[in-house]
Order: sequence, then C-alpha cells, then structure tokens
Amino acid sequence: MRRIGVITSGGDAPGMNAALRSVVRTACGKGIEVYAFYRGYQGIIDNDYKVFTARDVGNIIQLGGTVILTSRCKDFMTKAGFNKAVKNLKDDQIDGLIVIGGNGSFKGAYELNLAGIPTVGIPGTIDNDLGYTDRTIGFDTAVDTVVSLMNNVRDTVTAHERLTVVEVMGRYCGDIALLTGIACGADVILVPEVKMTPKEMCEKLLKSRSNGKKASIVVLAEGAGKAEDIVKTIKDMTGIDGRYLVVGHIQRGGSPSTIDRVLATRLGNFAVELLCKNKFGYAVGEKNGKLISVKLDDAVNEPNKFDKDLYSLIDRLSI
Ligand code: F6P
Repeated sequence: MRRIGVITSGGDAPGMNAALRSVVRTACGKGIEVYAFYRGYQGIIDNDYKVFTARDVGNIIQLGGTVILTSRCKDFMTKAGFNKAVKNLKDDQIDGLIVIGGNGSFKGAYELNLAGIPTVGIPGTIDNDLGYTDRTIGFDTAVDTVVSLMNNVRDTVTAHERLTVVEVMGRYCGDIALLTGIACGADVILVPEVKMTPKEMCEKLLKSRSNGKKASIVVLAEGAGKAEDIVKTIKDMTGIDGRYLVVGHIQRGGSPSTIDRVLATRLGNFAVELLCKNKFGYAVGEKNGKLISVKLDDAVNEPNKFDKDLYSLIDRLSI
C-alpha cells in the first residue's frame, strides 16, 4: 500500500472527522500517502482531492459534520460517472479506498471493489441501520442530542398538560426513536419495525391518562409517519390536544460523544490495517465490544436488528 484514498459520503454523522483523523494518522504512520477526496464520490469523479498529512487532521476530533464535505452523489449512480470514478482512482494510483458512510455509500464501495478498486467501508450514519454492526458512528451523539432537547419538551408539555409528538430521523430504522423514547420516558414509540394501528396508539394514551397521567410524549421515527398527522389523529380519536416537533437536522450535527469518538478512532485504524493486509471488499464494525470485518455485500444485506425486548419495556413502564 503506497497511496490510499478516503471519502465521507451520504448524510454526515458526528464522529466522521474522528474516523478521518484516525485513517490519515494510521496511514501516515505507515508511510502511506492519503488522498482525501472532497464531497464523497463526487470528489472522485471530479478528481477533487488534497493530499492530507497528519497535521491536516489536527483539531478535528471534536467537530461534527465532515471537514472533507459529503454528498449524495447522483453522478456516481450513472454508468458514465461510475466509470469516471474508476478511471480517476486508477490514474491517481490509489491502492485502496476507505469509504466512511452508510448503506448507500457501502453499495458504491462494493461496486468499486468489483471493478478492481480495493475498498473498505467504515459505518458512519446517525441512523444505526447497518445490521452487521452493533453501532454506527454518529448514532450515540444523535440520540444524546435528541434526549437533551426532549428534556425541554417535557417541561412545556407538563406545564400545559398536553401531548407532544416528537419526530426524529430514521426512514427504515427506528433505533433513534427507540433509544430516545426509552431514555425520555415516552408513552408511545412509533417505528417502522413495529406496526401499531391508530386505535392501539390512542388506547395506550387514554389508558395512561385514566391512570392519572396529565402529559404525554410520543416519539415517532420519520419512517413511521408524519408528526403533524399523528397529532391530528390523536385529537380526532381522543380529544387530547397536542403539538409536534420535527427535530430535523439538529440531531445530525454537533460535537461527537465520547463513545462515537472512540468508535470512530478504533474503526479508522482498523480499516487501514485491513487494507495493509490486502483484505479488500470489507466493512468494519463492532460486535459485543470487539472489532469485526464483514464482506461489503453481506454488510449491506444484513437485516437491521431491532431490539424488541427494549421496545416492550415501553408498554410496561408508560402506565
Ligand atoms: O443520514 C441519514 C439521514 O439523516 C436520515 O435519517 C434522513 O432520513 C436523511 O439522512 C435526511 O437526508 P438529507 O439531509 O439529505 O435530507
């Protein structure tokens, strides 16, 4: 390995910078040159890169976002764009490419690997929607961000004896909703993985109100509905007055938590080690505290593991 490339791709996640730092410093320590391409796959197509030294990643471990920018690159999904990316990587004599991103970015890494560009993927997404790893970089921070916002929501919802529906990110994966709902003592958690009819939801809310509860919190994953619609349904079916909050991109920014920084640092180092061992076409992750590597195609196809036991606690505790 003489020269490697690195990109951050897809939705940014807190801890991507920590992963980048770890990749660059591990590589530099081994005498490997690092091309950091800007804006994910777009930067490879445009051949827009900077050679990063250990100093270029100083003072970024604490930063959210990604200093090398990111994009959801439509060009890369076209044959012409993909072929341009492969050509540029070959012309640049990139011996291995590290892709820090989520499921869609890993699919791109898999295709590049098939096309003869050795790749390794590092899971960076707040959604925690990659089933092969216990955690993705950014998830812990996103949950902490929502939890701290929810403390404020609880103050006002309690003061007005109201209901608030809080919508968090997660199109296909309810993990952010699940963790924040549990940590904030929500009454109902709505996620794509568990079907709940409006009637069932309203019965739960009415039951806790009949037990003396005066304020209610519903946490909703974006993949399970729209907060505005849920508030209306509850009002129509129960008469309970409600408000809603769509947390949006606030949950994707911010300084990474300790857990995300450490995970990112370990995975960045591990990804470079894999490339150096000529282990290509893998995604790195963490299972039961141990670092693992899984073939990229298995990683993207591994179904998401939703913690139904944890979810069931809501019904027992929101009485
Ligand atoms: O990165 C994943 C994610 O944060 C999803 O949870 C969300 O649905 C999506 O990105 C939003 O993407 P964008 O910022 O491109 O609108």
